[in-house]
Amino acid sequence: MISNNAIAKHGVLTCFFILLFVDMATAQMAMISAAERKVTSLNGYWDVIIDPTGIGDWRQVWLEHKPEKKSDFFEYSFQGGPQLKVPGDFNSQKPELTYFEGTVWYKKQFNYEPKKGKRLFIYFGAVNYRTDVFLNGKKIGSHEGGFTPFQFEISAPVKAGLNTIIVKVNNTRYQNGIPGKGYDWLNYGGITRDVNLIETNNTYIDDYSIQLKKGSLNTVLGWVQLNGERPRQNISINIPELNLSYHAKTNDEGIAKVEFSSAFKLWSPSSPKLYRLIIESETDTVADDIGFRSIEVKGSKIMLNGKPVFLKAVNIHEENPYKAARARNKEDALLLLNAAKKLGCNMVRLAHYPHNENMVKEAEKMGLMVWSEIPVYQHIEFADTVVTQKMERMMEEMIKRDKNRCGVIIWSLSNETYPSAPNRNNALIALTKKCRNVDSTRLITHVINSQQYENNTFDVWDTLGRYADIVSINEYVGWYTPWQGLPANTKWKLICPEKPVFISEFGGEALYGSNNGPTDEAAYWTEAYQAKIYTSQVAMFGTVPNLCGVCPWLLFDYRSLGRMHPVYQKGYNRKGLLSEKGEKKKAWYMMKEYYSKK
Ligand code: GCU
Repeated sequence: MISNNAIAKHGVLTCFFILLFVDMATAQMAMISAAERKVTSLNGYWDVIIDPTGIGDWRQVWLEHKPEKKSDFFEYSFQGGPQLKVPGDFNSQKPELTYFEGTVWYKKQFNYEPKKGKRLFIYFGAVNYRTDVFLNGKKIGSHEGGFTPFQFEISAPVKAGLNTIIVKVNNTRYQNGIPGKGYDWLNYGGITRDVNLIETNNTYIDDYSIQLKKGSLNTVLGWVQLNGERPRQNISINIPELNLSYHAKTNDEGIAKVEFSSAFKLWSPSSPKLYRLIIESETDTVADDIGFRSIEVKGSKIMLNGKPVFLKAVNIHEENPYKAARARNKEDALLLLNAAKKLGCNMVRLAHYPHNENMVKEAEKMGLMVWSEIPVYQHIEFADTVVTQKMERMMEEMIKRDKNRCGVIIWSLSNETYPSAPNRNNALIALTKKCRNVDSTRLITHVINSQQYENNTFDVWDTLGRYADIVSINEYVGWYTPWQGLPANTKWKLICPEKPVFISEFGGEALYGSNNGPTDEAAYWTEAYQAKIYTSQVAMFGTVPNLCGVCPWLLFDYRSLGRMHPVYQKGYNRKGLLSEKGEKKKAWYMMKEYYSKK
């Protein structure tokens, strides 16, 4: 926003150009269903320059200067250097990049023939963490955030013939980042998801929301948003299987309200029904597989399609344990999700950031409900307005991409933030309200771990719970905190005694196969010690008022460089129910049995 005193000082015209520049510099929110469109993939090997000191900015590597005079030389080149696969984190592609936090410059060329009446976009599924994009030596914009899609329109700057895209990626952690500097997973950097060129007509379908109205089992309430020079168009929404065709007209802003009813076969974990749905305007067509379900809270229960549901969940990081790399494709998603299914889950908590679309779409097809979360993790600079704007942007990018995924039932807007952090409550309460404005159909939660645990009593006092639909609690009694009495005698004091309570993390560490040390001592990472935690936790679950679900931390052992014990951890967080080789620990069998009885 340009302030009034700036206008007074610089004049309206100057401010207009500043706004234009700012708008051009910031990436656009990605168009919806990007993968379903006519795309030219830029995936594959990209030439790279690894730039540990960040000097590439000073050298202006995006200009790709070449020697002209005999005395010329330039101390960089994309030719003759290494290549990296896109999509893919760079840490797992080269030994020298394993712990790399810094800048890598990526280069790709493509041929294009501009056509009258067509527009061209470059779409990034995700890049961690800061991105600057250059086309043919000119900067076209930047994006911050490692786990949500973004795009740039390049209709004007793209030229006929050969074009060169250069992408500066920097995965340095920042105090005012989202997440901040401290987190318990490997900071995989790079162009970690797909890169596509998307060509559209002058006016295209940029966004739509097609889901059941809150509390309804048969009526869709949504909208369609066009983008382009012909905002007023006839549109139709077709579901061939239901012989349903709904027609509407978009207004001067390109928006059409959508409302239609049908006897939908509802989506559920036991029957994950999806309908092929085609949205047509006069200049664009987009198809999607849409499910219809209702999710809401009634008293202390979560109701799915009007019936109480117990969330048998598990935490998952976006890491293929066998590849020790960022999970990114359908094969990786199926590996992780099938393991959750085998455990007996009906929901996955995609911790602690929006995962790639394969995870969300495949979960929906398999009948796994999804908890999606933005990385507002622990220490966040809530008093910095730049940070609160970043949080809001990330939330909007997450919701824009997945709001039509009926499998997603919960938006989680924070994890273990500090109640004492300046402006934390105001910022998160404001974010919650904005989230509800953007999407009123799903449940919203904040994960807390501020509860007191004394005299075998949990005192859940965090006021954030008042603004969430469910109270989500991380607790590690039996691992980080010893039990203070019999788990089955645990007492609870809840600030919101009427709301559903979800145990969003619990557990402890064990090295698979470590069965030699004393089983009552944590420092040997034995499976028996971990299993004892689970036995006690299950006993405690019976004392939790309004328990609506549980979610062990976590499915697989995963990489986290702060986990440094040279014998038991070796850079892995060992709270997995499965080792990074997929070996089932004793605790896995306990959760399997607990879920089988639910
Ligand atoms: C926290 C946090 C996780 C972390 C876990 C642990 O609850 O949410 O991200 O990995 O504890 O300590 O293992």
